[in-house]
Amino acid sequence: MPSKVLIAEDEARMREVIIMLLSDMPLEFVEAADGRQAIDAFDQETFSLVITDLKLPGPNGMEVLKAIKAKDPEVPVIVNTAFGSIDNAVKAIRAGAFDYVTKPFKEERLRGCVEKALQLSRLTSQVRYLRQEIESEYHFDKIIGHSPQICDILRLAGEVARTDATVLVTGESGTGKELISRAIHFNSERADGPFQPVNCAAIPATLLEAELFGHEQGAFTGAVRRQTGKFEISSGGTLFLDEIGDMSLDVQAKLLRVLEDCTFQRLGGSKFIRADVRIIAATNKDLMTMVHKGQFRQDLYYRINVFPIAMPPLREHRDDIALLADAFVAKFSHALGRKTPQLTATALQRLTAHCWTGNVRELKNVIERAMILCRGSQITSKHLVLHEPDAPPLDKADLDKVVAVLMDNGGINLADLEIRLVKRAMQLADNNVSRAARLLGLTRPTLRYRLEKLGLDGAGQPVRS
Ligand SMILES: Nc1ncnc2c1ncn2[C@@H]1O[C@H](COP(=O)(O)OP(=O)(O)OP(=O)(O)O)[C@@H](O)[C@H]1O
Ligand SMILES: [Mg+2]
Repeated sequence: MPSKVLIAEDEARMREVIIMLLSDMPLEFVEAADGRQAIDAFDQETFSLVITDLKLPGPNGMEVLKAIKAKDPEVPVIVNTAFGSIDNAVKAIRAGAFDYVTKPFKEERLRGCVEKALQLSRLTSQVRYLRQEIESEYHFDKIIGHSPQICDILRLAGEVARTDATVLVTGESGTGKELISRAIHFNSERADGPFQPVNCAAIPATLLEAELFGHEQGAFTGAVRRQTGKFEISSGGTLFLDEIGDMSLDVQAKLLRVLEDCTFQRLGGSKFIRADVRIIAATNKDLMTMVHKGQFRQDLYYRINVFPIAMPPLREHRDDIALLADAFVAKFSHALGRKTPQLTATALQRLTAHCWTGNVRELKNVIERAMILCRGSQITSKHLVLHEPDAPPLDKADLDKVVAVLMDNGGINLADLEIRLVKRAMQLADNNVSRAARLLGLTRPTLRYRLEKLGLDGAGQPVRS
C-alpha cells in the first residue's frame, strides 16, 4: 500500500516539482495550497508524512506544524524554507519538525530526507501496533473467570490501576500473579512506560543489588563499565519484583530505604537518583510467617503490603475451569490454525474434579498437550494427561510440633486420630480413593481395607447400619 504524503505549498509549480522528484517512490500525494487546507486535510485522512512550506497563506507553515504535532506528535513533518532563512528552519526543528530542506530543492537531499522520515513513520506505526497488541493481551478482559473470586480480583485490580500504590500479589504458583500485575500496569497511567520484571529468586543475592540499583565502573571486581539498574530502566513505568520472598535480608534492607526515600544510589556511586517507579511485588510464600521466623523484614512487609491482592488457587474457583479450558482450546486452535475441537462432557468432568496443584498454568499445559494428542473434533478423557500429586514430604520439625501439641495435652485416642486423618484425606481428594491413598502414603487397596475396617464408606463417612 502506498504511503500517503500531504504536501502544503502555495505555489502549484513547487508542488509539481516535489511530486516529480519523488515520483518513483510508492507514495500517494494529497495537495494543499494554504495552511487551512493543510490542517483540514490532516483532520480527514491519515498521513505517513507531511511536507510543508514555512511561508504559507492562512495559518503559516509554523502554525501548520504546531497543529499537526498537537494532533499526532508521531507523524514526521519536513519543512521547506527559502535559501538563507535557516533561522526559521531551526525554530521549526525545535517545534518538532523532523528535518528541513532548502529551496530550490536538491533532488538527493529531498529524497534522502523523505526516505528517512518514512522509515521513522513505518517504525513508529509498527511500535504502535505492537504496543496495542501487548496492551490488548494484558487487558483485564483477557483474565478469564466469572467466579466471585475472580470478579473480586478484577474489581480490586481495576481500582488500584488508577493509583500509584504499591501492590503485593500473593498466591500459589501458576495462579496468574504475573498476569494480573501486567494488567494493572497496562491499565494504569504508566502504561506507556516499561513493565520491568525482576525475578528475585533467579538472581544470586550478591548480584541482585547491582541488578536493581545499577553500578558505577569499578564499583566491584568485574564491574568493567557502568550499568544502569532496573530502578532506572523502569523509570516512568512499573518495577515487578517477582518472588520477593526469596530476597535476602541484606537486599531487603536496601529496598526498604529506596521505598522510604524514593531515591537510590548506584553501587559505587555518590549521586542520589530519583526513583519514579510503581512497585508491584509478587510471591508464593507466606510473608507473614516469614516475618515471624525472622526471614522477612517486618517494616518492608508493611511497606509493600499497601494493597494486597490474593490470587485464589484454581481448586477454590472450580466454576471457572470450564471457561478457562474452552478459552485455552480456542487459543491453541487459533495458534495451530485448526478448527476448534469440543471438550466432551466426561473430559470436562475430569478437568473439574482434578486437584490442580499447578493451578491455571497446569490447566493450560494439559490443554496444550491434549490439542497435540487430539486429531479429531473432540477432546476426550483419553487426551487428558493429568498427574496426581504425591503427598508432599513432611517437614520433620513441623511434624514433631504437631505430635507434641497432640500428646502434651493429656494424650490422644489413636483410633480416633486415624479416622480423622482418613476422613480429611478423602475430603481433600474429593472422595477419590487413589488420590486420598497417595496423600496418606498408602496403596489404594490398603486404604480401601482401612476404610472398611474403620466403618467408613467410599466417601469417608461412617457406614449406617
Ligand atoms: N485467569 C486467567 N485467565 C487466563 N489465563 C490465565 C489466568 N490465570 C493464569 N493464566 C495463565 O496461566 C499462566 C500462569 O500465570 P502466571 O505466570 O501469571 O502465574 P504466576 O502466579 O506468576 O506463577 P508463578 O508463581 O509460577 O510465577 C500464564 O500463561 C497465564 O497467562
Ligand atoms: Mg510468576
